[in-house]
Amino acid sequence: MSEKKDILILAIESSCDETAAAVVKNGREVLSNVISSQIALHTLYGGVVPEIASRKHIEKINYVIREALSQAKVGLDDLDAIGVTYGPGLVGALLVGVAEAKAISYAAGLPLVGVHHIEGHISANYIEHKDLEPPFLCLVVSGGHTHLVIVKDYGKYEILGRTRDDAAGEAFDKVARAIGLGYPGGPKIDRLAKEGNPDAIHFPRAKVGDSGYDFSFSGVKSAVLNHLNACRMKGEPIVEADIAASFQKAVCDVLVEHTLHAAKEYKIDKVAMAGGVASNSALRAAMQAACDRRKLPLYCPSPILCTDNAAMIGAAAYYEFMAGKRAGLDLNAVPNLPLGER
Ligand code: KG4
Ligand code: ZN
Repeated sequence: MSEKKDILILAIESSCDETAAAVVKNGREVLSNVISSQIALHTLYGGVVPEIASRKHIEKINYVIREALSQAKVGLDDLDAIGVTYGPGLVGALLVGVAEAKAISYAAGLPLVGVHHIEGHISANYIEHKDLEPPFLCLVVSGGHTHLVIVKDYGKYEILGRTRDDAAGEAFDKVARAIGLGYPGGPKIDRLAKEGNPDAIHFPRAKVGDSGYDFSFSGVKSAVLNHLNACRMKGEPIVEADIAASFQKAVCDVLVEHTLHAAKEYKIDKVAMAGGVASNSALRAAMQAACDRRKLPLYCPSPILCTDNAAMIGAAAYYEFMAGKRAGLDLNAVPNLPLGER
């Protein structure tokens, strides 16, 4: 019997402020993972400026693709498909990756696979955890999204909860700005919180009516702003490290509680995390401790695969490709693409 052929996918990601390309083998083995970050550029403005992001993607995309192919030591002839993020994200930024992927697909005669960005984040778990298979519960926490999802099968999702207002990463970024840490706030709060007392200030843990697993982070963000104002008015010292640690704990408490509660209610015996905020050290530690108490295995990509990258898009594209999903040359960027719809 002939051996199963390896499937090599070139994946492209440009939904926000990283221009990225990767070559992934059989959905789980990363041959290259090239990321050109625009963070330094957007830091000047305190956040991502969409028009600048699009222009930078255009400048960098050919370079990251050439580099990804060269590091993987493959040419276009060796590939089986092109995978690309087509939503959700910034429309101008997404369009750069989508147009590039369509051009390569047409020129090289390769099938095109459209990938949902969040599906990519979730699939980052397949890369480092070769034994992980659905079903599992996944907490997706990024700069633009906060979703609690049951991954029922490859490409099949049931969303249990989502944020009603700010995404978790957005709350980190806004609080960081308020205490003068700059952009991107998540890693800076993570670092500063290590020097602070997480019990110094009690910030609210949002309860969102009776809607089960939805999240809300605008309340805790406002509480931090109120605390800063109160300190200023009373002439009391502002202890940034305590604020960072206490805010971080308030956010992590809710994320962990919702996740563990859902695992119990839906009788799911595997928990995973994904997205930029999943690289937060306090969240990883708190989720690990909670899962250990309940004897549930916890899967989490290493930090470089939590934040935006193309390897995760290659992992997701593989399962779409194997399921026979193909995009046409009419593939368009969809800034509000819902999870589970293609
Ligand atoms: O997944 P991602 O790279 O992009 C989106 O799809 O949004 O997530 C970026 C978000 C930013 O809000 C950033 O502040 C946050 O992830 N983030 C963190 C950490 N590293 C990145 N938040 C908390 N702690 C971190 N260590
Ligand atoms: Zn992302």
